[in-house]
Amino acid sequence: MPGADIKIVIAGHVDHGKSTLVGRLLSDTGQIPEDRKSKVEKICRAAGKRFEFAFLLDAFEEEQAQGVTIDYTEIRWRFGGRRFLLIDTPGHKEFSKNMVTGASRADAAVILLDAAEGIREQFRRHSHILAMLGLDRVVVAVNKMDLVAYDERRFAEIDSEVRSFLGKIGLPPAAVVPLCSIRGENLLEPASSMPWYKGLPLSGELLRLKPAKKAGQNPLRFSVQDVYKFDEKRIFAGRVESGVVKKGQKILFLPSGKETRVKTIENWPGPGAAAAVRGVCAGLTLEDPLFIERGEIGVDGPAGGKDRTAPFVSDIVPANIFWMGERPLAPGITYKFRLATQETGCRLVSVENVVDAATFEKLDQAEDSIARNNMGDVTLKLDKPLVFDEFSRIDVMGRFVLADDGRVCGGGIILKDARERLRYKGIKKRALFTEKSGVTREAREKRNGHPGFTVWFTGLSGSGKSTLARELEKELFGRGAQVYVLDGDNVRQGINKDLGFSSADRVENIRRLGEIAKLFSDAGLAVITAFISPFESDREAARRVVGAKRFVEVFLDCPLRVCERRDPKGLYKKARLGKIMNFTGVHSPYEPPSRPDITLRTDKLGVGAAVEKITGYLKKRGMLP
Ligand code: ADX
Repeated sequence: MPGADIKIVIAGHVDHGKSTLVGRLLSDTGQIPEDRKSKVEKICRAAGKRFEFAFLLDAFEEEQAQGVTIDYTEIRWRFGGRRFLLIDTPGHKEFSKNMVTGASRADAAVILLDAAEGIREQFRRHSHILAMLGLDRVVVAVNKMDLVAYDERRFAEIDSEVRSFLGKIGLPPAAVVPLCSIRGENLLEPASSMPWYKGLPLSGELLRLKPAKKAGQNPLRFSVQDVYKFDEKRIFAGRVESGVVKKGQKILFLPSGKETRVKTIENWPGPGAAAAVRGVCAGLTLEDPLFIERGEIGVDGPAGGKDRTAPFVSDIVPANIFWMGERPLAPGITYKFRLATQETGCRLVSVENVVDAATFEKLDQAEDSIARNNMGDVTLKLDKPLVFDEFSRIDVMGRFVLADDGRVCGGGIILKDARERLRYKGIKKRALFTEKSGVTREAREKRNGHPGFTVWFTGLSGSGKSTLARELEKELFGRGAQVYVLDGDNVRQGINKDLGFSSADRVENIRRLGEIAKLFSDAGLAVITAFISPFESDREAARRVVGAKRFVEVFLDCPLRVCERRDPKGLYKKARLGKIMNFTGVHSPYEPPSRPDITLRTDKLGVGAAVEKITGYLKKRGMLP
């Protein structure tokens, strides 16, 4: 909401009275339009129910739901000279998911719990989500005090339990307030039913919460939502997520890297403005006719020198994730990654650690995955580079949601040490130049009698990669080709001896080997590789690096049970006994290629026949001497 001073998400168990609380705050301050109230009263009378404040909110929801799927309801509320945006997270089954989406837009939170029931699983879970999202301003509302006869001792018990639990997870509450929202007790005024309570009523505590950071304290992040064309004019509509955008300033759009100046700021229907601040939606016109799409992020134009305010532009995301999906977060699955207006596919590369979100205990982790209701530090790989910041620096640009099959299944934040971790991944721009060889490709091909190319075998351990690679090598050598085999077990003892079998290490293993295959192919050799190469995206990357024209992907399709029966190195047995971890096919996934150049059923086909098939194919592509 443009101009909200503070956004507060209302969290807690679904039956503990969140909507009633919000409805009551609105109605007791006279902020519910009369027509809506009478409409709800009518519904209640017809249903033979007493007037429920929660119904008021449902009416709001209905209004917001028109034409858009909503995960949460935003309600404006003015009190004590401050503009609040209350974020209610409706929905029953998908409750935690809505919570993450709603909480990821909030500055602070009210967590509700039922005085009769005390701390429940949902309370713990929501608290962990809030802590993970970095919300450190929290008020706990102990609702339904009427059900415990306004008992001071019962409240003291809950108060101390709550403080001890929240303290442990790094979310000490600003206040714990006893109340009864259905009767409006201790919401706006101190309640005579609880004279023993010496603190402020809920509204007083909400006023004491520190408002969001002032606009302009952070660098600019303008997320482009839409581009409108009016004759010659192009308006880039979006939201100022952080900082200020000023008329005339230099602006740089990322990830495209296009740079220009802001010509005007159009605030429909008013005339042009001089500036727009955090939280405001605005339309920019630009000095140069640039092609910029939804999802681009405008940042302050380069100041020159080392720019410490620059965001990350990367396809590697080090993050802390809370997972709620039915199936675990695991490598090999493509998820949707959404951050501000940016969206792309993403995959899990590695899991650094996993924590149970209800107990906060570190879990022993045998695999690269995170099960439902756990959280952990992970590395994600995006399908394309996006723009983001560390959550601790610019919250809205540092938190994201993940969707599996169209449903939000997890939320996360970009970790504090992202800069360090990304530097290690080598994404920084460097001043490099490409030197060209004086010997042409044609000259090499002419001398060798064939082009340089790569035959890339992929398949489970035991599917026959090494055996076939050696046989094919002999065959091609016999035909006069310059040929060489790169084998997984061998290169892992040499150039890749620093790598293990975590998903992250496998990605790096295949990245390096793709580069080596490219160099060898460039040098004019026929390269044959024998790596499991379990991930499709890595094989696709290898195809790109080597060049699709010189790349032949051969899928050795052999059922796991056959590979396991063969077990040439005795590794499956060891894996089943738990003596080796992360074994492909046992604990670690294998993604069959979706469009291999050649598929060979190596459980049915003899070695000789397989080699013949491949040479036949290579001949057709003009790759043989
Ligand atoms: S890849 O997954 O990164 O492509 P690569 O082909 O280099 O794997 O190495 C696989 C070889 O390493 C196997 O043939 C096997 O001999 C050995 N190995 C040892 N531990 C594992 C493991 N956990 N998973 C798979 N292979 C393993």
